[in-house]
Amino acid sequence: MTSERDSIKTNGLTRRALLTAAAAGVAVQTIAIPTARAATRPGTVLITGSNRGIGLELARWYAEHDWRVIATARKPDRATDLQAIADAHPKVQLEQLDLLDHRMIDGLAATLADQPIDVLLNNAAILGEPNEQNFGSMNFDLLSRVMATNVTGPMKMAEAFVAQVEASEQKKIVAITSTQGSISSLRSPGLVFYNMSKAALNMGMKSNSKALEKRGITVALISPGAVDTDMMNLALERAGVRFKLLAPAQSAEMVATVIDGYGLEQTGTFLSHKGESIPW
Ligand SMILES: NC(=O)c1ccc[n+]([C@@H]2O[C@H](COP(=O)([O-])OP(=O)(O)OC[C@H]3O[C@@H](n4cnc5c(N)ncnc54)[C@H](OP(=O)(O)O)[C@@H]3O)[C@@H](O)[C@H]2O)c1
Repeated sequence: MTSERDSIKTNGLTRRALLTAAAAGVAVQTIAIPTARAATRPGTVLITGSNRGIGLELARWYAEHDWRVIATARKPDRATDLQAIADAHPKVQLEQLDLLDHRMIDGLAATLADQPIDVLLNNAAILGEPNEQNFGSMNFDLLSRVMATNVTGPMKMAEAFVAQVEASEQKKIVAITSTQGSISSLRSPGLVFYNMSKAALNMGMKSNSKALEKRGITVALISPGAVDTDMMNLALERAGVRFKLLAPAQSAEMVATVIDGYGLEQTGTFLSHKGESIPW
């Protein structure tokens, strides 16, 4: 059966999305994802925040595609969904990792010193309570936590694991970012801290792409779409709105496909889950 998701694997953008955009007169900027690249052979991926949401489904996708998965979580002993994936796939290894604990990050990097990592997948992040990040009622302790998790965390991960990425075949550092970090697309005044964090993450990773290009390391910035997870549901609940969301598994497959096709020639570009370029 040829599904819409199969077609994404071959060109980075669904046929339906292209037709819809064309009908609306929208010029969609796409990246060329060579078909040959869409079948990269399995390697090793390390995922942060893989116990729930998009991270859990990324872990499942890579496990089902025969990758070796280093699935990290703050509390792996309570990560029952992730444990079930590991039980079914012997190449899945659970590790404890809290992005706020840099000694723990360095400790895991030391434990995995001899393990090449093809894809370092920085997925974990927090939204922060939306009602505490509006102008006039800002909780600045929350701002510090959001920045420490969403910006400092992935930047520290990149430094800590760069040797393992460099030693791998595919050599990719990925940051799951958000269209909320697109300054030029901003329409509403809410989620200020989260938006700030994703804009800062984009700049940090873009800078990393410049520093690492000569070492053959690709740095990818990918937004996963609007996905039915705890994070998105908290944002929608506080905003009092609802709209159709992607299932986490759908998003994970699309993100993994974009990662697969994302090469050094695209390093530092900001792409959607469909492989479309997103304005900064
Ligand atoms: N959902 C969307 O529509 C959407 C849209 C755009 C971008 N994103 C991005 O997609 C990524 C995944 O989001 P999601 O929707 O799957 O969120 P989620 O369901 O809230 O899951 C967040 C994950 O991050 C982990 N995490 C939080 N703080 C951490 C820390 N200090 N150290 C390690 N792990 C930590 C959580 O672990 P615990 O279970 O221990 O808290 C959880 O596994 C995030 O980068 C998010 O910004 C999501």
